[in-house]
Amino acid sequence: MQVLRTTAQMQAYADEQRRKGHRLVLVPTMGTLHAGHLALVNRARREGDHVTVSIFVNPTQFSPDEDLASYPCDFEADCDALGSTGKVDAVFAPEVDELYPDGAEAQAIWITSPELTKYLCGQYRPGHFRGVLTVVLKLFACCKPHVAVFGLKDAQQFYLLRRLSHDLALGIHIAGEPTVREADGLALSSRNAYLNSAERAQAVVLSRAVAQARELMEHGQQQSAPVVAKMTSIIAQAPLATLQYAEVVRTDTLVPVKAFSPGDEIMAAVAVYFDRTRLIDNAIVKIPLSQC
Ligand code: PAF
Repeated sequence: MQVLRTTAQMQAYADEQRRKGHRLVLVPTMGTLHAGHLALVNRARREGDHVTVSIFVNPTQFSPDEDLASYPCDFEADCDALGSTGKVDAVFAPEVDELYPDGAEAQAIWITSPELTKYLCGQYRPGHFRGVLTVVLKLFACCKPHVAVFGLKDAQQFYLLRRLSHDLALGIHIAGEPTVREADGLALSSRNAYLNSAERAQAVVLSRAVAQARELMEHGQQQSAPVVAKMTSIIAQAPLATLQYAEVVRTDTLVPVKAFSPGDEIMAAVAVYFDRTRLIDNAIVKIPLSQC
C-alpha cells in the first residue's frame, strides 16, 4: 500500500495507474475509520481494480463553532485498518497546505449549490457543503478516479456530489453505499465516539425514526406530514435528544414535498443533537408504483 503525501506525487501516481489500464476508484474520507468506511473500501474493490483512500480532515467544511479542533484522528491506526483489508492500493494523505497552498482564505474559486443546500443539513451548516464540494473536486483532480464511493448516511452530500460530477461533466461515476449500522440500528459515525453511555443508549431513536418513516412510505402513506410527525414523536421519546430537523424531500431536488407520487425517490431525514454531538440518519424510498 503506497502512501502519497503531495498533490504532485498523487497525480503522477494516478497517471501511471491509468496508463496501465486500471479502473481507478477513490474513497474520500476524513480518517478515524470504522466499519462503515471499510464497507466503502469493499464497494470500491467491486467498482474497479485500483483503490485509493484519501484521508484529509478538510478545514473548510467546519464552521468556527464546529468540532475541527477536536475531530478525532489517528493516522497510524487508519493505515493499519486499511492495510489489513488487503484491498487498498494507495492512501492519499496530504497536509492542509497541499490542498490549500495559499491558505483557504486566499482561495478565489469555490464550488457551491445554493439550490441543493436550502434544506436538510445545508440550512443549518452554512458553508459546509461549499467546503465539501470544493475539497472533493480537488481530491478528484489529484486522484483522477473513474469512480468515487460515498456513504449514503451523508445523503445530501452524496446527491450534491452526484450533481457535481454530472453538471461539471467530470465523467466520474459517484457510487453510494448503504449505511452500516450497530446491532441496535445506530448508524456508524466517527462522532458516535463523543456520546456518553446514556446518550449512546438513546441515540437509537434516530434509526427508529427513519425506519418508521420508511415503513409508512413503503406501505401506502402518500403525505409527508404524518411521516414527519412520526419521526418527531420517536425522537421526542429520548429525553437527551434535541431535534434539529425532520424532513421529507425529493432526492433529485432535496426540497421538502407535501405529497409523493409513485416512482418518486423520497428521503426522510433527521438531525439530532445529544448535547454538542450532532447525529444524522435517513431512509431513502422509491415510492411503489402499485400503491396509488
Ligand atoms: O464524508 C466525509 O468524510 C467528507 O465530507 C469528505 C467527503 C471526505 C470530504 O471532506
